[in-house]
Amino acid sequence: MKYFLLPLGCATNKADAERIAAVLESIGYEKANSEEEANLVGIVACSIRQSAIDRVYGKVHKWNKRKNTEHLITFVSGCILPTDEKKFLKTFDIVLKIDQIYTLPSLLKEYGTALPQSFWEIAPKRTSTFTALVPIQNGCNKFCTYCAVPYTRGKEVSRPSSEILAEIKQLIDAGYKQMTLLGQNVNSYGLDKPKNEISFAELLRCIGEMGDASDRRLWVHYTSPHPQDMTEEVLDVQAQYNSLAKYLNLPLQSGNNDVLKKMNRRYTREKYMQLLDAAHAKMPGLTVSTDIIVGFCGETEEQFQDTVTAMQRGKYDLAFIAQYSPRPGAMAERRFEDSVPKSIKKEREKRLTEILKETALQNNKKIVGTTIPVLVETHSRKSGKMLGRTEGLKSIEFVGNSSTIGNFVQITITDCDAWRLYGTLA
Ligand code: SAH
Ligand code: SF4
Ligand code: F3S
Repeated sequence: MKYFLLPLGCATNKADAERIAAVLESIGYEKANSEEEANLVGIVACSIRQSAIDRVYGKVHKWNKRKNTEHLITFVSGCILPTDEKKFLKTFDIVLKIDQIYTLPSLLKEYGTALPQSFWEIAPKRTSTFTALVPIQNGCNKFCTYCAVPYTRGKEVSRPSSEILAEIKQLIDAGYKQMTLLGQNVNSYGLDKPKNEISFAELLRCIGEMGDASDRRLWVHYTSPHPQDMTEEVLDVQAQYNSLAKYLNLPLQSGNNDVLKKMNRRYTREKYMQLLDAAHAKMPGLTVSTDIIVGFCGETEEQFQDTVTAMQRGKYDLAFIAQYSPRPGAMAERRFEDSVPKSIKKEREKRLTEILKETALQNNKKIVGTTIPVLVETHSRKSGKMLGRTEGLKSIEFVGNSSTIGNFVQITITDCDAWRLYGTLA
């Protein structure tokens, strides 16, 4: 019995796929080398844009054709909107809410030993031996008007901090070098549990202490914070511990206050910039990325100009720029018209990408000539060189050998473009 899993969307789904893999392996399934070889195929779906959902339909259509000639079980989990769920029930054998994946064995009518009793009790099957995803919360209560997540993943639930800290300790002991704490709104961590849970800042402090106490280098990243709940305390803790990586993804979405209001983001451009300035002041050399949506319902050229100036002011190293895509059932889809033509969305995305290219290049140029630690990730077949990441998650290429994969090396940066650094082993 072999399984094949296809996680779409963000790191949350990748982390969930590691848990699904563990459940399947606990009942005797083995990972297939290819989709064709598997007799159980599953998708961890993403609903953030229509294109991601279209991929799900494309896959299941293909799989259902295969069923004419072979025995194949299909399932889907992840982020699914109610309208798609109804359709999936007709096209997939099994449709599972993400927090119910521990029931997969009984659905598959197989019984293993010591079956987990909740989502968090599943120990994931890690896909890397040196970087790990650590979910700290599931769901979202923010209801940004454009967004599908609150409808696909439900209410925010924080994972018990004792479990998070135990998992991190295990990872450190096993020699992991980099970890990413995952949640839709990491800084509302703990707020769903009245008294007995610690805050995100306190959680970070415990992790920072644990990381700094280890005799090896460790980078702990977190994503995503929400500017509304982000506090200076979180930034102070991040600044204080070496093991808390000096990287910040602070999603702006729009630089115009009226658009932000319509998106139900509940912060202003001014509050956002104040946070960004504070972060830079507390952490010199900080790498910053953001998320932007262009062409949100009714966005005028003038309003878009505010995003242009915010992008210039933010001097980002990286940005995830998305064209607005209406999500069935989300507030904006019900209440506002998707009035900005596709061609204008495309053009606005291009204009922001040009700004990003410029700011990223300027930032990269500043570190040319310096020597920095790099976590080696893989060997590039295309260039024959090694690829790694900096503490700020910048991609870097250098000449080296494969035995360094999964380890830190010191690299002197010799050159750069907007999207990549180039260097040599120091
Ligand atoms: N919880 C995080 C990220 C959520 S989804 C946050 O609040 O920042 C990741 C990104 O997808 C969002 O930041 C947003 O920029 C983008 N996104 C979400 N819904 C979208 C939609 N309907 N159309 C286009 N982009 C969207
Ligand atoms: Fe979506 Fe907003 Fe929640 Fe992020 S905070 S997951 S954008 S609703
Ligand atoms: Fe992530 Fe897509 Fe779900 S962005 S949280 S996988 S809707």
